[in-house]
Amino acid sequence: MRQKIVAGNWKSNTNVKDGVQLAADVNKLVAEKGDKDVKVILGVPFTHLTKVVETVDKNIGVAAQNIGEEKSGAFTGEVSAEMVKSTGADYVILGHSERRQLYHEDSNSLNKKISLAFENDLIPIYCCGEPLEIREADTHMDYVKKQLEETIFKLSEADFKKLIIAYEPIWAIGTGKTATDEQAQEMIGFIRSIIAEKYNKELSEEISILYGGSAKPSNAGNLFAKKDIDGGLIGGASLKADDFIQIINAY
Ligand code: PGA
Repeated sequence: MRQKIVAGNWKSNTNVKDGVQLAADVNKLVAEKGDKDVKVILGVPFTHLTKVVETVDKNIGVAAQNIGEEKSGAFTGEVSAEMVKSTGADYVILGHSERRQLYHEDSNSLNKKISLAFENDLIPIYCCGEPLEIREADTHMDYVKKQLEETIFKLSEADFKKLIIAYEPIWAIGTGKTATDEQAQEMIGFIRSIIAEKYNKELSEEISILYGGSAKPSNAGNLFAKKDIDGGLIGGASLKADDFIQIINAY
């Protein structure tokens, strides 16, 4: 059975004190009443990583939201994969649409980050998804396929296996406009089918693929009920522990 995952993406929100409190609140709720079949991951700002790792129980994963594309050196302001790993974090969100759009992260840069993540034993949560104009032009399948072909489809089977993929249609992120369960299932089912073509059927059945984009307590249950959707990457609703636990328990 595929691993069910609910990952929070806090983005650039909370200071260290409030973030550690949020992590402690989520940790308590997960321990008290969290669905034990769901792997919970918190994607927090760099500044919070060490403290959040110390705050949560071992069963909760901690993710950075980015890493630098170079190993180390004269790159002022960059945080390397090795630095992230040394905080005790085990995951990193890569290729988020905000990074692709606002910070011009292209496939070339993303590929460097993906290999550095693997070299440092960080599991990438790889994001893909189309903007509104592509969805409206009905070319979203080709668009997402190309994103995968330029990046993670270059990985060996052994590395590919370790990935978590998140499909996040850009028009649904932070807009309150969730993709319908059918739209999300259609794309995630499609992603699974092209993984089967590129690698093999077993691998396509093993890998966890999440949905992200205005997921919240009221719609998570329907989304997670779809056969190919293994959970969610949650932005806004991961900043409230009460909402987040409801999403974790939405299966
Ligand atoms: P949202 O963000 O849930 O606030 O739409 C999701 C994401 O960007 O990962």
